[in-house]
Amino acid sequence: NATTVSPAHSASTASTLITNIAALVTNDPSLGDGTPLGLIQGAAVVIEGDRIAWTGDQSKAPATDNRVDAGGRAVLPGFVDSHSHLVFAGDRTQEFNARMSGRPYSAGGIRTTVAATRAATDEELEANLTRYLAEALRQGTTTFETKSGYGLTTEDESRALRVASRHTAEVTYLGAHIVAPEFAQDPAAYVALVTGEMLDACAPYARWIDVFCEKGAFDGDQARAILTAGTARGLHPRIHANQLSYGPGVRLAVELDAASADHCTHLTEEDIDALANSRTVATLLPGAEFSTRAEWPNARRLLDAGVTVALSTDCNPGSSFTSSVPFCVALAVRDMGMTPDEAVWSATAGGAAALRRTDIGRLTPGAYADLMLLDAPSHVHLAYRPGVPLVTGVWRRGERVL
Ligand code: NIG
Ligand code: FE
Repeated sequence: NATTVSPAHSASTASTLITNIAALVTNDPSLGDGTPLGLIQGAAVVIEGDRIAWTGDQSKAPATDNRVDAGGRAVLPGFVDSHSHLVFAGDRTQEFNARMSGRPYSAGGIRTTVAATRAATDEELEANLTRYLAEALRQGTTTFETKSGYGLTTEDESRALRVASRHTAEVTYLGAHIVAPEFAQDPAAYVALVTGEMLDACAPYARWIDVFCEKGAFDGDQARAILTAGTARGLHPRIHANQLSYGPGVRLAVELDAASADHCTHLTEEDIDALANSRTVATLLPGAEFSTRAEWPNARRLLDAGVTVALSTDCNPGSSFTSSVPFCVALAVRDMGMTPDEAVWSATAGGAAALRRTDIGRLTPGAYADLMLLDAPSHVHLAYRPGVPLVTGVWRRGERVL
């Protein structure tokens, strides 16, 4: 009988029932309405320790130690933001202002942030990161990936990853963001550094390796060499691909079985076919198109071809300075041809797939108890009520943090 708490029953294994949930997104198609969201109406969830212990119709819920009344609101898995750049200093307000009066976005602005990041102390970088993470958490993000890429020296890249690794297991080495300014005349020497000494210093802190495959950054052959070197050191590849122009990035992602090809704004039929016949997730980052006034990626075309799509923020001071997944969900629905159900799936289960994780992004027994309570009767309100702070409760690893 779980209603009495014995002294041996430690807080970490106490069970909590969240009941009176009007709409519960489980992301288990075998539950509820049978759609990919596995939507259950009149639902309850049981959390035990850091995991989901039970999910189902509230009338069948087991007895628990504690009880939370969701008040007829919606509950869904915490967002999995599988693409952000949060280790940086300074901002780029002037560049944004110039862009909003007509200047185009170019990767060159990255240099401004590299200079500010190199000049910052470890404490400043950590304070910035902590602040953006708190912002993201208030908007429902319970897992985030983040990258280096604003250091571009062995020392600065490895400290960025060291700082990031204190806050997440999903850390990505992006020494190949752009060629470091010191190597402008000798890009081959920079690639040698990124695949040599810098990789050695960074690999211990990272799970992933990434490269910005784009004109003005790294071409297909350089990207292949960089990702292959990372793979040889036990890192797993993901790629910034086809953001600003057509190019080889997406096909390279598939060739290397990358977990994710990110941006996917400029895609040929061949790129889409390659993704559809692979395990590589297409991660769409509408905050970048919004903030650079660029053409939207065509999510509908990808979904209709059978590609797995993730939605993330790309939060960074240059191309997409938003930490809000709900904002990205609203953009994807309004402008990229996604239904609200698809966008919510992509921001939760899709993000998990882009990180090759099955223990997050769904509310089924055994998964981490990472979830949010919305001040709304359904998840659809995330797109229907854009800009409204609907997230009213967040549990991370079974602990209520908001
Ligand atoms: O994902 N594309 C490359 N990197 C970032 C932008 C970085 C910046 O402008 O500072 C992105 O959009
Ligand atoms: Fe990015």
